[in-house]
Amino acid sequence: ERPCPHKPKPVFMTPIDKSAVETILRPLDLTDDHYRRLMDLMTEDIVKGMNPQTHPAANIKCFPTFVRSVPDGTEQGDFLALDLGGTNFRVLLINLNGQEVKMESKIFIIPQHIMLGSGVQLFDHIADCIFKFITDHKLQGKKLPLGFTFSFPCRQEGLDKAVLTVWTKGFNCEGVVGKDVVELLHAAFKRRGDMPNVKCLAVINDTVGALISCAHSDRQCAIGLILGTGTNACYIEDLQNVKTWTGDDGEPRQVLINCEWGAFGNDGNLSFIQTDFDKAIDKHSINPGKQIYEKMISGMYMGEIARLAIERLRKNHLLFEGEGSYHLATRGRFYTKYVSEIEGDDVTNFTVTRQIFDELELTNHNEQDYRLVRHVCNLVSKRAAYLASAGIACLLNKMNKKEVTVGVDGSLYRFHPFFHDLMMEKIQALIRPNIRFKLMLSHDGSGKGAALVAAVASKLKDKDDR
Ligand code: GLC
Repeated sequence: ERPCPHKPKPVFMTPIDKSAVETILRPLDLTDDHYRRLMDLMTEDIVKGMNPQTHPAANIKCFPTFVRSVPDGTEQGDFLALDLGGTNFRVLLINLNGQEVKMESKIFIIPQHIMLGSGVQLFDHIADCIFKFITDHKLQGKKLPLGFTFSFPCRQEGLDKAVLTVWTKGFNCEGVVGKDVVELLHAAFKRRGDMPNVKCLAVINDTVGALISCAHSDRQCAIGLILGTGTNACYIEDLQNVKTWTGDDGEPRQVLINCEWGAFGNDGNLSFIQTDFDKAIDKHSINPGKQIYEKMISGMYMGEIARLAIERLRKNHLLFEGEGSYHLATRGRFYTKYVSEIEGDDVTNFTVTRQIFDELELTNHNEQDYRLVRHVCNLVSKRAAYLASAGIACLLNKMNKKEVTVGVDGSLYRFHPFFHDLMMEKIQALIRPNIRFKLMLSHDGSGKGAALVAAVASKLKDKDDR
């Protein structure tokens, strides 16, 4: 054996310390019984969401989307798309030509004072960004149908009418809840007065974008899933089950349902699995009591769950000999990407982990600490992946189709080293044995999906205009 310069020291932990660690971390380690109970509760909540009597009090709202069919591959033309609701705001120009899709896009930052400012400010900012994009791409004067991926809970009254019911994630702009976001967008265009050719034809949720864009190449795709800043899913439901449906009931007798499953648990029915860490996160969030399931899973919160567990261990002298740092004590400072990076690190040298500890200005650490922090990250991300798996398994069992593809997008799913594998394993364990499923990465669903839906809408509109 060649001598290794970074040869790790052996790990020693006394049995007392070991059992103290276990006591602190055990609540993060759930069993299949927990996941199955969660699935039963979720199934009940979904049914409640789709019934007009129980809908007002339901956690999982299951909004019908007015998207009734998946694209047939004949969509054509140039479209603008907006993507608002993740970490970034993007404007895209999309050229559709059958199966071929060309895209150009630009990321714009939404500063925090706008995320928490007024609705007028937000939509003015969006209009400014679109104008810049159009000018840069020399598109002034061209008629541009627009598809808007607006990833927040909306009650839709048509493809181009979406009333925001509540803000989620990091947004809380005044004067938007209860309003149609298409109207607000068009009002901002009007205030500028220099964009008469841009018209929003469709609003979709990012889950719908993920589903639609995957369905463009895989006709079995019937679920869209987002694991990013937030988490949510949509699926294709038979109209007869959607008692809240008010649109026309012609063929196809199905509609995409935007579950808004992030709000699962808002009535307290997930308290049987909520840990102290989850409760603390909820308490300090901008929307306490809301998005309980989302707060246990998604990228906006995962790093913070890990940080709270790490801090608890440290305070009990089970990490860093009890020595913390200002950064480690700061809310939100242990980023979710650290969880992915630490889990992806090489355990023979822990290079990346050490680097992260340096960034956090932790000075007292050894191999035992690297291993334990990695273990915490494993537990937190495994729980998140399994919770999301239980949600998907619930939808798969409910739909009861033989073969379903799930279109997935979001930074958490993309960048975590084993999220996909964890989900494959757990979904398989929780679904009926006769169901077969695939998890398919959606490539730029929020852009492509919005363009495809706008294309269908513009075809319909042209027909009406004739
Ligand atoms: C939040 C939003 C939801 C979105 C999800 C993922 O849960 O409420 O609309 O789909 O985040 O972005």
